[in-house]
Amino acid sequence: MKADKAEKRIAELTRLINYHNHLYYQQDKSEITDFEFDQLLKELETLEKNFPNFALPESPTQRVGGAITKKFESVQHKYPMLSLGNTYSKEELLEFHERVKKGLEQDQVEYICELKFDGLAISLLYEDGLLIRAATRGDGVQGDDITINAKTIRSLPLRVQSEDFPAYFEVRGEVFMPIKVFNRLNSAIIEENLQLEALGKKTKPTLANPRNTASGTMKMQNSAVVASREMDCFLYAITTSDMKFKSHEEGLTKMMEMGFNVSNTFRKCNSIESVFSFIDEWEAKRHDLPLETDGIVIKVNGLENQEILGFTAKSPRWAIAYKYKSESAESRLNSITYQVGRTGAITPVANLAPVQLAGTTVKRASLHNSNEIKRLDLHEGDIVWVEKGGEIIPKIISVNTSKRVPNATPVKYIEDCPECGAHLVRKEGEAVHYCPNERTCPPQVLGRIEHFISRNAMDIEHLGPKTIEGLIKKGLVKNPADLYGLSFDQLNGLQFEFTEEQIGELKKRSIQEKSAKNIIASIEKSKNVPFRRVLFALGIRYVGKTVAEKLVEHFFNLENLKKANFEALVEVPEIGDRIAESLINYFKNDHNLELVQRLSDFGVCLKGEEFDTNETREQILTGLSFVISGVFEHYERDELKSLIKSIGGKTVSSISKSTNYLLAGDKVGPSKLEKAAKMEVKLLSEKEFREMISAE
Ligand code: IVH
Repeated sequence: MKADKAEKRIAELTRLINYHNHLYYQQDKSEITDFEFDQLLKELETLEKNFPNFALPESPTQRVGGAITKKFESVQHKYPMLSLGNTYSKEELLEFHERVKKGLEQDQVEYICELKFDGLAISLLYEDGLLIRAATRGDGVQGDDITINAKTIRSLPLRVQSEDFPAYFEVRGEVFMPIKVFNRLNSAIIEENLQLEALGKKTKPTLANPRNTASGTMKMQNSAVVASREMDCFLYAITTSDMKFKSHEEGLTKMMEMGFNVSNTFRKCNSIESVFSFIDEWEAKRHDLPLETDGIVIKVNGLENQEILGFTAKSPRWAIAYKYKSESAESRLNSITYQVGRTGAITPVANLAPVQLAGTTVKRASLHNSNEIKRLDLHEGDIVWVEKGGEIIPKIISVNTSKRVPNATPVKYIEDCPECGAHLVRKEGEAVHYCPNERTCPPQVLGRIEHFISRNAMDIEHLGPKTIEGLIKKGLVKNPADLYGLSFDQLNGLQFEFTEEQIGELKKRSIQEKSAKNIIASIEKSKNVPFRRVLFALGIRYVGKTVAEKLVEHFFNLENLKKANFEALVEVPEIGDRIAESLINYFKNDHNLELVQRLSDFGVCLKGEEFDTNETREQILTGLSFVISGVFEHYERDELKSLIKSIGGKTVSSISKSTNYLLAGDKVGPSKLEKAAKMEVKLLSEKEFREMISAE
């Protein structure tokens, strides 16, 4: 494309995409399909790549992020970003109203009530209609320049959408993480933790609440990650000397006209009573919004009036925040259920008399561990306070001891596993109790099998957790090897029971013919899964994906790995004491040995495939020929031969002038040594060889 044409098309696409973006994100409308939108964006991306000089500052391609910020620049706010006075009661709000009336010498005051959005405050500067800077509040005087990250917010206009706008202005608002996104991130962590738990690895803490996550996100160094988090913002104030507004409401309307995302929840109230109604109305309704709100902001509408009232050192006298009380409710502790996790960790869960809390019915609350029960000094039948913060699962905050029945029995923590009866253990320094019966405790068996079949491991499809639970209950599967013994006839039409997680109820289901076929086929297919993934699938503590890869690269097959002693194991790069010990313990256990033997008998791959294929490894030994003699620590003879072959080398049986190396192990034949010396063939130790092929 010619330059002038490209320039024109870039401008056209920029305008068009920004227009559709605005429609979609602020007005919930679309005039084109997602596919068409993506096509336009792709076209623009390509053109901008070829003609970078023509890319416009408001280009929508910036929304996908990608730029890395090492350190956010500190910037000065034009006007300090103040905070708001808080109140939790209507009495205090009445006092505020009295102060305002007195200050204005008026009996009637016009207010604008808005929701108080829970995120982080942002200041946005626009010059000639273009977003030129986005900054955090910081200490109110100075904040951080987060323009790059702010540009990923789709609802934020990079250029104002109307013709008539002040030449220079600042808008302020709140950036937030939609609850949907927050829950998605947390679910991903929970999912990952299940995997980590199954491997005996430390789990990651879940995210506390959308507000903290929003702050953290906007300060991330990688703007592509910020973009992926689909942040949003509501704007609630504009300041400019280039345009005169009479009221706050006029400012809001102007902002909307310019394309800013102003929440349409605001309302003009002519009396304090109607302010109270607004508060009451939103108390429950606010939970239906896609973001968290923690109160209401009440602002004097007239700008002249605002000026008269002025500011204290910290906050405006013309506005106040009414905060909803933190969500808590009283309920009765009916019983405690002890859940056994996939690693045997015990989690006590309180079963409560159903109670309404923050718009949902709460029946259960997590008690974390025995220390928490002690901290609360929980007694049977206690009346407890439950609170729902940003967390997904509500928490018991305290006990209302005044309502405790006389002679109530203190809650006694269980001593035996509720699933298998084994005596629980508690590791030194840990708060959590564990069931030590790894082999036959049902949830642990289930956990191990789920890990075994998971995508990164054996990738056995069509077998959901419910089916596995059913197969375990039927006694058909006790360990991963049993899967390979299953037949179509056993599965077809099989009726089984499983627990419905949310409600803890037992339900019935049966396996249909098609499903049985699929399961058998998937199990069969998994026999081709490479050894490194099989090793990971075994779920040996601390042997994650990478460790499994390293081990297979080094030991090649299961037999070698089984034989390896502590020293041999820690010699492998990245294998430390802890992993080595775990492996030795694993292979010391007869049940494990039986398991891997059975897997092997069923035809599961227990040999590294890396050395057998020519494509996968770099041909670093091309043109070199080797004679092998002696016994080697890491390899069997045959393995060594195929390894050399797989990376381009040649092995020959007798030494000649054209031989490059005599690869000499332990007990190398003396005649070979002699011949090598005569023919000036270089001697190579196992260690040198391993260095040569970068196995060391
Ligand atoms: S007006 C002078 N309106 O609440 C301060 N603030 O302490 C004027 N906030 O972090 C602020 N929703 O970002 C205002 N509708 C709203 C708001 C709001 C949330 C935040 C603000 C700041 C805090 C004020």
